Amino acid sequence: MDKPKQFIDKLEETSHLAKEEWIALIENRNETVAEYLFEKARKWQHKFYGNHVYTRGLIEFSNYCKNDCYYCGIRRSNQNADRYRLTSEQILECCQLGYGLGFRTFVLQGGEDGWFAQERLEEIVHAIRERYPDCAITLSLGERSKESYRRLFEAGADRYLLRHETADEEHYRQLHPPELSAVQRKQCLWDLKEIGYQTGTGFMVGSPGQTAVQLAEDLMFIRRLEPHMVGIGPFVPHHDTPFAAEKGGTVELTLFLIGLLRIMLPKLLLPATTALGTIDARGRERGILAGANVVMPNLSPTDVRKKYELYDNKICTGDEAAECRTCLSRRMEGIGYQLVVDRGDFCQ
Ligand code: 5AD
Ligand code: FES
Repeated sequence: MDKPKQFIDKLEETSHLAKEEWIALIENRNETVAEYLFEKARKWQHKFYGNHVYTRGLIEFSNYCKNDCYYCGIRRSNQNADRYRLTSEQILECCQLGYGLGFRTFVLQGGEDGWFAQERLEEIVHAIRERYPDCAITLSLGERSKESYRRLFEAGADRYLLRHETADEEHYRQLHPPELSAVQRKQCLWDLKEIGYQTGTGFMVGSPGQTAVQLAEDLMFIRRLEPHMVGIGPFVPHHDTPFAAEKGGTVELTLFLIGLLRIMLPKLLLPATTALGTIDARGRERGILAGANVVMPNLSPTDVRKKYELYDNKICTGDEAAECRTCLSRRMEGIGYQLVVDRGDFCQ
């Protein structure tokens, strides 16, 4: 009797596991179980998305941040971070470049930077919406009020990414300063869903203090939330943070969790993240083969790339957007997938 495989079968059939079952599955995984899982994950990926891989053009428009997350390289206490902000014109130039390269989703991501006040953000979203009516606009701006989220939605944003980071309140406190809480974070996600955003959450794999228990809670929270997207990547230590000397997450566990997410919520948009590509030269390919179906290359101007350094050794910081697109396209073809020119919406 092979328990882990039975849990995978049960998950596939019912879309649920009890907490003890999640824990047992994660703790007793091995290479054979992982292969079994990935095969099923690819079956679901193909059923809903074929061999298509969606791209999002990531625009990292500010690395100022009022928060002080212990893991993050752009935390406010990091005096060595070289801070920058893109102008509205620069952001629109990134979109123009991206559109020409075949991107139909733009992701505006930044630290929690008060300089980009509500009206300024609305103007930017509105300008992109007017110029690119056939594109999706994704925001990744951290925690905001429900009213602010609503107004940005009305200005033309379609999607919002906000990783819950960890569902366990105690673990959340180990990763963040006291002014931030898991409860508040999760509330933002419920608000975003209610407003009508295609909502993305996610977490780091192998963050300090994380065990199978926390991972079980993460998966159960995601099951309850039913987001449209889930971004997970390994924790990678950044040299100028309190977690500089901590161990990073593994490729193996990240891939296993991608597989589980694909089986639990088969229609999910699941990126093979840059962090995964950072700790393994073929990390993104392996992510796709474990069930992911999205990649998010960078559209930011090359002179600021290196400055948006959430973790050490981040890849692609020296490459032009066009090079990244070609590179990814070739990589995906190499494993039998196709990078498509498409908004890449959640499959209804
Ligand atoms: N390693 C990996 N991922 C990180 N993030 C922030 N810092 C790190 C790190 N050191 C992730 C967080 C955040 C997302 C934008 O990047 O999960 O939500
Ligand atoms: Fe800014 Fe974490 S320090 S998001």
